[in-house]
Amino acid sequence: MADVYLNGDYMPLEEARVSVLDRGFTFGDGVYEVFLVYRRQIFRFAEHMQRLDNSLAAIHMHNPLSHEKWMKILMTLVKGNPASDQSLYLQITRGVSERDHSITLAKTPTIFAMSKPLPQRDLTRGINVITLEDIRWKYCHIKAITLLPSVLLRHQATLAGAAEAVLLRDGYVTEGAASNVFIVHDGIIKTPPKDGSLLPGITRDLILELLLRADIPCAETRITDKELRAAEEIWTSSSTWEIVPVIKLDGHPVGKGRPGSHWQRVYEIYQQFKNNPSLQQAMGK
Ligand code: PDD
Repeated sequence: MADVYLNGDYMPLEEARVSVLDRGFTFGDGVYEVFLVYRRQIFRFAEHMQRLDNSLAAIHMHNPLSHEKWMKILMTLVKGNPASDQSLYLQITRGVSERDHSITLAKTPTIFAMSKPLPQRDLTRGINVITLEDIRWKYCHIKAITLLPSVLLRHQATLAGAAEAVLLRDGYVTEGAASNVFIVHDGIIKTPPKDGSLLPGITRDLILELLLRADIPCAETRITDKELRAAEEIWTSSSTWEIVPVIKLDGHPVGKGRPGSHWQRVYEIYQQFKNNPSLQQAMGK
């Protein structure tokens, strides 16, 4: 089965090979995207492509392929996979060069994409999270493949019996190790602003769009450690996990210790949107 795309060719995963001198391997010098596929349609394609272009520009690269070409490649992978719902992964590295920090040495980017069935996980009963110091760099708006700090943070959460870490920088919430964070405080839904300390999540942005459309009070504003701990509700968001209620923070119940009513409403609005292609078209860019 041709389940991956690599540098112009489709092939089985086991046959895909890249050089050990690929800068993705030696320096983590590249960017990526994770798309969701529902009923064989790519969700929020234009938004993911825009973020990919932004990430590439931030590391002094151009998108080697047009959005139309990407759509063709990704749809070929989607069609080749029997699952109706899938998770698509795309990665572009600066390519092969001698191991030297200078970015001018690599001439041809390495382009890779694969699709796998979407793992079925029911997180609607809520997850436990812990808070950790955000040890990452200052360019968190780039969806870089260089993920060692996030991997270590998530591992620390796992060791503590938590599903995710909520990160704090200088006393303010940034995001999760692999998700964005929302809180409900004084009845208002809040999420931190896009200031380079977090990834501009496609799910985050969609939630804000849906909240505005439904006239539900929300704000992009800084969230203090204190506000986080006093929150009536906490949620995390990502393409793969959608919107997940947090029921325990550092071992203490959040609100009543079960998914809150705001989460319930927004989750339903999100599901309606996800399952309604004509609404998606009407709201599309
Ligand atoms: N991660 N913040 C970080 C640090 C992330 O890694 C992710 C997603 C998000 C949510 O972004 P989006 O809503 O666009 O998925 C926020 C993906 C899923 C991953 O690395 O696998």
